[in-house]
Amino acid sequence: MERSWEDVDAYLEDLLVREDAALAAARESASRTTMPHAAVSPAQGRFLALLAQAAGARRVLELGTLAGYSTIWLARAVGPGGHVTTLEVEERNAAVARENLERAGVAGWADVVVGPAAASAQRLVDDGVAPFDLVFVDADKPGNPRYLRLALELTRPGSLIVVDNVVRAGAVADAASDDPRVVGSRQVLADIAADDRLEATALQTVGGKGWDGFALVRRVR
Ligand code: DHB
Ligand code: MG
Repeated sequence: MERSWEDVDAYLEDLLVREDAALAAARESASRTTMPHAAVSPAQGRFLALLAQAAGARRVLELGTLAGYSTIWLARAVGPGGHVTTLEVEERNAAVARENLERAGVAGWADVVVGPAAASAQRLVDDGVAPFDLVFVDADKPGNPRYLRLALELTRPGSLIVVDNVVRAGAVADAASDDPRVVGSRQVLADIAADDRLEATALQTVGGKGWDGFALVRRVR
């Protein structure tokens, strides 16, 4: 019997990761954004939430909101005593996300900031905001090296940084790739490896979103 990655995600998500109506609506609303297929899967959303809870995260920063699907998972994980700041370049996506955050009941502690992620993150640095406990980097992939540098200005020892989509169907292992998304992913992984403040791994994932993966980074000092 031939089974696909999609079949297994459907099985696991049906068993373990039941979405409520607000999460399902947020996932479906992705078709109204500029990138209909980029949201994390339900299983990945639950994973981010479990990670945030295991880390005791209260302040979360997300780069790349899209429809706010992962934002809802993260905001529910930190609860109303926490806060999520999520950065989105497209006003149209931000409007969809705000609707979704409202419907999910988390808008009171999840803010969508519109503008290029690097500029918005730099403004947080300039404003001297309190450090974030977890940063989810999921915006444009060529920007990843810059986003890591900004994340390091916005975190503290012990904070976690997750960088999405670093495997890119295996292309990350191709040193000769001139795809700027692959170059950005390879550079951010090299920067992580070279930084003695950071401990990291990266895990490949398969499922409804195909073959990809994420880096998980812990800032130790
Ligand atoms: C793409 C971006 C994402 O953040 C993702 O999770 C999947 C795909 C993309 O750029 O195509
Ligand atoms: Mg992503």
